[in-house]
Amino acid sequence: MFPTLVSRAATALLLGGNLVAAIELNIDDATSIKNAAATIAYDMMTYYQGNQSGGIPGVLPGPPPNPPNGYYWWESGAMWGSLIDYWHFTGDASYNDVIEAGIQWQVGEHDDMMPSNWSASMGNDDQGFWGMTAMSAAETNFQNPASNQPSWLSLAQAVFNTQAARLEIETLCGGGLRWQVYQYLTGYDYKNTIANGCFFNLGARLARYTDNATYASFAEETWNWVTNIGLMDAQYNIYDGAHVETNCTDINKIQFSYNMGVWTLGAATMWNYTNGSAIWEQRVNGLLNATFNVFFPDDIAYEVACESKLTCTTDMYSFKAYLTRWLAQTTFLAPWTRDIIMPKLRASAIAAAEQCSGGTNGRTCGLSWSKGTVWDGTQGVGQQMAAMAVIFTNLIPLADIGPPLTNATGGTSAGNPDAGSQSVANPAAIKPATEADRVGAGILTTLMLVGATGMFGWMSL
Ligand SMILES: *[C@@H]1O[C@H](CO)[C@@H](O)[C@H](O)[C@H]1NC(C)=O
Ligand SMILES: *[C@@H]1O[C@H](CO)[C@@H](O)[C@H](O)[C@H]1NC(C)=O
Ligand SMILES: *[C@@H]1O[C@H](CO)[C@@H](O)[C@H](O)[C@H]1NC(C)=O
Ligand SMILES: *[C@@H]1O[C@H](CO)[C@@H](O)[C@H](O)[C@H]1NC(C)=O
Ligand SMILES: *[C@@H]1O[C@H](CO)[C@@H](O)[C@H](O)[C@H]1NC(C)=O
Ligand SMILES: *[C@@H]1O[C@H](CO)[C@@H](O)[C@H](O)[C@H]1NC(C)=O
Ligand SMILES: *[C@@H]1O[C@H](CO)[C@@H](O)[C@H](O)[C@H]1NC(C)=O
Ligand SMILES: *[C@@H]1O[C@H](CO)[C@@H](O)[C@H](O)[C@H]1NC(C)=O
Repeated sequence: MFPTLVSRAATALLLGGNLVAAIELNIDDATSIKNAAATIAYDMMTYYQGNQSGGIPGVLPGPPPNPPNGYYWWESGAMWGSLIDYWHFTGDASYNDVIEAGIQWQVGEHDDMMPSNWSASMGNDDQGFWGMTAMSAAETNFQNPASNQPSWLSLAQAVFNTQAARLEIETLCGGGLRWQVYQYLTGYDYKNTIANGCFFNLGARLARYTDNATYASFAEETWNWVTNIGLMDAQYNIYDGAHVETNCTDINKIQFSYNMGVWTLGAATMWNYTNGSAIWEQRVNGLLNATFNVFFPDDIAYEVACESKLTCTTDMYSFKAYLTRWLAQTTFLAPWTRDIIMPKLRASAIAAAEQCSGGTNGRTCGLSWSKGTVWDGTQGVGQQMAAMAVIFTNLIPLADIGPPLTNATGGTSAGNPDAGSQSVANPAAIKPATEADRVGAGILTTLMLVGATGMFGWMSL
């Protein structure tokens, strides 16, 4: 009796011990990193119901307010990109079929990552995130879809081509993509850095993948615009956006970590594509300097706009996932950055694993990596995705992870330079507003923004 009781108690203690312990992680051990990332990925995927009967493939529950804590369409695309990297880094292909099916379900009527179902919240950044996910699939030789489905590369090209067409009709603010795609959407009058950053990032990566200079010149043009207008300043700080009503002089100075990631990876890709140009080297270094100064206090990634009081929106809880993934990819393209980036990813991963210590399972991830094992009480796809991403990036020094491929170095996704041309021809999607329409929309937007100033809700992608 007595020994049994003791061993039961010991077992209970052990279980209890596991419950209060954070995710276990030995950052110098590849198996430990893979196990931690696998557990966090598994918990993340419990939010996904798209492959269950009655679910919509490719999307998380949402958008808000149905359910109130639901996800916008873009974040589902971002999650697939994170899971493609998860497979690429860890070799765990458990989710690959779900990823492929999910993306292909969402390609839209014109194979351009703009399904009409989601036109009520379609931003250039939303579409851009799905485009960058398709690009990651091409660069990692992710399993190719059936030949009657659009290839990964062609989807990335379609996103680029539809956005390049929108850019070419822009006159206000001297260029730049608008935040929203359709003129009836709130935020059509806002030009934001993430929408332009996604386009820049995609252009750079397409140039490198296909060795086609047209993409690179659009990327250059976008860099020039964002710096000229002051959305990126001389110290490489990156601000959120500005309105066309002021010719983009009312710069909203909020800073988000995903902007640092998207521009840094794009700049590193341009450095690589140009065979090591001095100007892109300087830009990569400047961006890293600003990134570390603003977003890595004590080497631990920190969402400076909202982490201290946990006022982040659902979108913002996921931003550190992209920051850390894209810094990791930067180390392959601009090799000298590895020694300065990896210490930050290492410290952040150790901290993130500790923060995965909450919820009913005792391992739910919060956002507040710098709070150690004291769970911050938040949970969601974004928190899981960010912790998963920063942890698996630490396989770089321990495993043989290939650099992003190109068409010349083994990438097998077949392209279509004209992808998206059908949707470009759709006038409703790109027709500039008439002056009367534009003024009307501007007033409406201003009224809505007056009510929303100080909150982040209107800024969701
Ligand atoms: C849905 O995907 C999960 C992986 O996230 C898998 O375990 C499960 O079997 C899938 N369910 C169906 C019905 O396909
Ligand atoms: C669009 O919505 C319908 C109805 O909910 C759904 O059946 C379909 O799968 C959705 N398509 C996409 C691409 O989300
Ligand atoms: C609007 O901004 C652009 C870019 O800075 C500038 O070239 C243009 O002259 C400005 N237009 C007006 C009317 O101020
Ligand atoms: C290069 O890309 C541009 C822009 O999409 C496209 O128009 C052109 O056909 C491409 N060139 C080649 C050789 O594929
Ligand atoms: C980079 O170098 C390769 C090999 O010499 C060359 O084919 C390519 O055109 C160069 N790229 C650029 C953008 O100069
Ligand atoms: C570009 O990236 C590839 C892949 O990592 C690397 O082999 C190559 O050396 C890089 N180019 C330069 C100029 O460093
Ligand atoms: C790094 O950023 C700081 C703050 O903006 C700046 O003072 C410093 O000159 C930058 N250093 C480099 C090497 O760019
Ligand atoms: C990609 O490479 C294949 C051969 O490996 C070639 O046939 C094809 O034209 C290339 N595509 C581009 C866009 O360069």
